[in-house]
Amino acid sequence: MAFDFATPVERRAPAGGYASQKWHRFGADVLPLWVADMDFRSPPAVIDALRERVDHGVYGYGEVPASLPDTLCQWSAQHYGWTIEPSWQQWLPGVVPALHFAAMALTQPGEGILTVAPIYPPFMAVAARTGRVAQQAMLAEPAAPGEPWTLDIAALEAAITPQTRLLLWCHPHNPTGRVWSTEELTALAALVERHDLWVVSDELHCDLLLGEGDKHRPLAARFPTLAKRTITLWAPSKTFNLAGLTSACAVIADAELRERFATATKGFLPDGNVLGLVAAEAAYRDGEPWRQALLEVLRSHRATLEARVATWPGVSLSAPESTYLAWLDMREAGLEASPSQVLLEQASVALSDGAAFGCPGFVRLNFGTTASQLEAALSRMDTLLKA
Ligand SMILES: Cc1ncc(COP(=O)(O)O)c(C=O)c1O
Repeated sequence: MAFDFATPVERRAPAGGYASQKWHRFGADVLPLWVADMDFRSPPAVIDALRERVDHGVYGYGEVPASLPDTLCQWSAQHYGWTIEPSWQQWLPGVVPALHFAAMALTQPGEGILTVAPIYPPFMAVAARTGRVAQQAMLAEPAAPGEPWTLDIAALEAAITPQTRLLLWCHPHNPTGRVWSTEELTALAALVERHDLWVVSDELHCDLLLGEGDKHRPLAARFPTLAKRTITLWAPSKTFNLAGLTSACAVIADAELRERFATATKGFLPDGNVLGLVAAEAAYRDGEPWRQALLEVLRSHRATLEARVATWPGVSLSAPESTYLAWLDMREAGLEASPSQVLLEQASVALSDGAAFGCPGFVRLNFGTTASQLEAALSRMDTLLKA
């Protein structure tokens, strides 16, 4: 079946779209390649399932449909080679809330929460918002322009104190798109055990590995000894473009840890989003052909972007191995301190500024859009960056 990733979908209201963070934050002349959602319609199978549910017309309190946990078990076995149980799953209205609840469940005020940087900004906010102490280690910068960012295990070790209790890990990694190597993960797993840390493994981007034949391995599956100390977070939101339907899942193998996490969330969260749960099930059950087609499109867009960045003096890109986010080093591009601000004001393209990820001088570019929109944005950037 052919899927349409080429025809632009109007996302601005009142032009035909609906209120959208990505398309409304900046002026009507701005092309938005910032926040992490895509400009594609979700898989037809998801839209059909939603339509059927909408037609039912009653949207009172729902519950997790009995068939959803089984569907996720099948997805996990098939795609990650990990056998999980329905009882391990706690469905939630988002991954970011889960990061905060994990902090509250597993640490005390004043204890340390460790992250690497650059990192998806909410990771860095969790400690302050929960009265814990933020601890951070930089990843190692690429050895040469275009090489990958890598885990600096010595820096991570150095950031740990006796107060450190929890590691917030992003696997694969936003914003660099890294798919961590076995060596990196093995060193990480040993460090976690050595320091007796809890781990939240945010694997939200794990169904968007761009290497042909690449297969995600959840952290808790690759290192069974970590399973008792790990909360794994998954969601269909990035892969199937469902972020606005707020459904995610915490997968916890250990019964005691599961109980602790469930207790921390009790009473704080809305009941499941009845539409989001239907969409999640349809995506995991029937979305695979669409996902495969999406990966082809993203690989092609990544290649377009790499070719273009190669023509921009002073800009480098470590090509992402996953997801639709590209992390560009603009420190030598001759722009001022905030490259995203200059690009917004002088090229009318909205990107995410690296400072929010702990790395000023960088930008994150979302290439999960139509080829024509990507091309239009890159052409605008050309004019500025080649000047
Ligand atoms: C790594 C990561 N975690 C969490 C989120 C947000 O998840 P949610 O919308 O389910 O809170 C994002 C969104 O970009 C992300 O990239």
